[in-house]
Amino acid sequence: MRTLFDTRRRELAAWLAAEDPRWKTAVADVPRELFLGEAVYRAGDGPDGTVWEPVRRDGMTAEQWSRLAYEDATWVTQIGGVLAEDAGGGLSGDPTSSSTLPGLVVRMLEAAGIGDGDRVLEIGTGTGYSTALLCHRLGDGKVTSIEYDPAVARRARSALTAAGCAPTLVVGDGLAGYEPNAEYDRLIATCSVRYVPAAWMWEVRDGGTITAPLAGWMGGTALAHITLAGDGTACGRFPADDIGFMFARPHGRPPLSSYLIGLGDERDSLIDPRLLDDSLGVFVAQLGAPSAQKLGLGDEIILLDVATGSQATTRPCAGGWTVRQHGPLRLWDSVEDAVLAWQKAGSPDWSGFGLTVTQEGQRVWLGSPSGPSWNLPA
Ligand SMILES: C[S@@+](CC[C@H](N)C(=O)[O-])C[C@H]1O[C@@H](n2cnc3c(N)ncnc32)[C@H](O)[C@@H]1O
Repeated sequence: MRTLFDTRRRELAAWLAAEDPRWKTAVADVPRELFLGEAVYRAGDGPDGTVWEPVRRDGMTAEQWSRLAYEDATWVTQIGGVLAEDAGGGLSGDPTSSSTLPGLVVRMLEAAGIGDGDRVLEIGTGTGYSTALLCHRLGDGKVTSIEYDPAVARRARSALTAAGCAPTLVVGDGLAGYEPNAEYDRLIATCSVRYVPAAWMWEVRDGGTITAPLAGWMGGTALAHITLAGDGTACGRFPADDIGFMFARPHGRPPLSSYLIGLGDERDSLIDPRLLDDSLGVFVAQLGAPSAQKLGLGDEIILLDVATGSQATTRPCAGGWTVRQHGPLRLWDSVEDAVLAWQKAGSPDWSGFGLTVTQEGQRVWLGSPSGPSWNLPA
C-alpha cells in the first residue's frame, strides 16, 4: 500500500526539472525522510541574528513531516557541530551539515554529466541523500563518498543502510580524495572549495570530470565543471548561473580579529561599490582579491585581508564614491581591474568565465583560456 511519504516523493519527482528521467526515478524511489533522521533545524529571527530551532519528527504529525521531507528545500541538520537531534533548544552559528534541496542535488548530478557505469567520488556525504541517489542510479560498487565530520558520517551510514545502500563511505578530509578506489570517472563535491585540490586531479581519469562549487571569502560563487586532459591539466567553462554550498571545512573563512577601519590614502573609486552586493558582481570582484573578506553593504564596503592586514573602505561622496586603501595589497585597485575588464567584455554572466587548472596554478579566465585571467589561491 502506498504511504503518504510515497505519494509526496512521487509528486516531488514529477515536479523536478530534471532532463534525465533516471534521476527523477531515483528521487521517486529514495526515501528522503530516512536521511532527515529525527530532527532538522529551521531558521528563525533572534535578537542578534538567525536562531536555528530544532524541529523534531516526534513533535509533528506524519502529514507535517512528509510535507517537510518532500519540500524542495534544504534542511540544515547540524549547526556548529551540533546535530539537530542532539540540540536542547535554539542555537546560533553557521550550518555545518544539511540535506541539500533535491532540485539542486539533481542539478549538480546532471551538471556533472554522470552516466550509467561511471565510478563516482562524492565529497560531502552529509545526510547521505545524494549518495543514495547515486547508488540508485549506478549501483553501490560505483560510489565512494567522503564525509569530514564523524558524527555526520555515522548518521549517514545508518540512513544509507536503512535505505538498502552500501557505497564505500569514508570519514576524513575529502580534499585529500580517496586513493584506494581511484581512478574515478566523475568527482562531485557538495561543499564549496576555493580551488581544486591537487589530489582530485590525480584521482580522476584522463577525460573524466570534476564538478565542484567554487567559493571565495567575499561570498562570490561559481560552479566549476572541468575535464581532465591527458597532460595533468583540466579546463572548463562555468554554467550560466551560480550555486551556493557551505564551505569544505578547511576552506572556510578565517576568523577576523578586531580591526580599525578607514585607514590609508583616499582617492575616487572607478567603480560603483554597490556592485559587490550582487552575486555576479561579487564573484567578479573576488577574482581580484581572492583572500579578502567583505563586510559592509551598499556604498560602504569594507574589504579586509587577514594575512596581510590590507584593507579597503568605500564611502559615497558628491558625484560618486571614494575609497581608502591601506596595507601591502591594494585590494580595491585589484577589484577595479577585474570589474573593469569584465565590463569591457560586456558584463557577461558566469558562462563568460571558465577555469584552467595546471600544475603551476589555477586561473579563472574571461572569454577564453587565453583571455584576461586571475589566479585562484591554490
Ligand atoms: C551541503 S552538505 C552535503 C549535502 C549532502 N550531499 C546531502 O545530499 O545531504 C556538505 C557536507 O560536506 C561536509 N564537508 C565539509 N568539508 C568537507 C571535507 N573537507 N571533506 C568531506 N566532507 C566535507 C560537511 O560536513 C557537510 O556534511
